[in-house]
Amino acid sequence: MSIEVRQAPNGFAGEILGADPECEEDFEAVHQAFLDHGVITIRNLPLSPEAQLAFSRRFGPLMGRRPSTPDKVLMPGQPEIVILSNRKENGENVGITDAGRYWHSDLCFEEEPNLGTIVHAIEVPPEGGDTLFADLGQAYATLPDDLKSRIEGKRAAHTFRKHYLEVMAEGSPRPPLTEEQFAALKETYHPIARTHPDTGRKTLFINPGHTTHVEGMDEAESQGLLDALFEHCLQPQFIYRHKWWVGDTVIWDNRRVMHNAEPYDMGRYTRHMHRTCIHGDRPF
Ligand SMILES: [Fe+2]
Repeated sequence: MSIEVRQAPNGFAGEILGADPECEEDFEAVHQAFLDHGVITIRNLPLSPEAQLAFSRRFGPLMGRRPSTPDKVLMPGQPEIVILSNRKENGENVGITDAGRYWHSDLCFEEEPNLGTIVHAIEVPPEGGDTLFADLGQAYATLPDDLKSRIEGKRAAHTFRKHYLEVMAEGSPRPPLTEEQFAALKETYHPIARTHPDTGRKTLFINPGHTTHVEGMDEAESQGLLDALFEHCLQPQFIYRHKWWVGDTVIWDNRRVMHNAEPYDMGRYTRHMHRTCIHGDRPF
């Protein structure tokens, strides 16, 4: 069966059929679709943890253990796989139950943020639990001139601390970070508009979850600017809603999109997924 790439019916994402994760030629088509669309879904491709790791490494080195991720949610023996799940074993959660329920880009607060994330769905709820993606490349391309000039040459601060403290204060059931991990969560500055290293396109690199302020601006001005940017980015024409099916492997480009995982009824349904993260470059 040959590989087929098509546009998702409800947004900018791409859908791929017939890809063999072990085939080099297929990978070239998958990688091109990833750059073209920013989010791609390979449908109906069961992947063992080993196969997911091998496939993920085709994109680049993996990120592994991070200060922002509790060790308990890493797959035993395979710490490059983070388990996103509300399954329990012996009365304990095996993964992060409430991961990503806010607009963010994965690991944007690191000096060299995540290039891309690969999530493979093993069990999904029949309703709820969709993931939304916003195309920040298109958002930058359509940004009004006054906003474009206000962010020219500016950097913004990113941190995981703010979100972590918020979810823990709300009673998140996720395992806490160790003191050492929390202490290692730094504040990092990145350009508000970055240049995508593979496509050369400019894209916004900010998100409501982790971006706290604009460097060198007083708080009110900084918040006003960020709010105006977020309002622009979250217009419906830039959003793709992903409804998960079992066997989906979704790959997104964190250099170009931000995402938001919607909740589902965790008392009734199970959602179980494996996530790998690919190491990226320092934004410029
Ligand atoms: Fe995420």
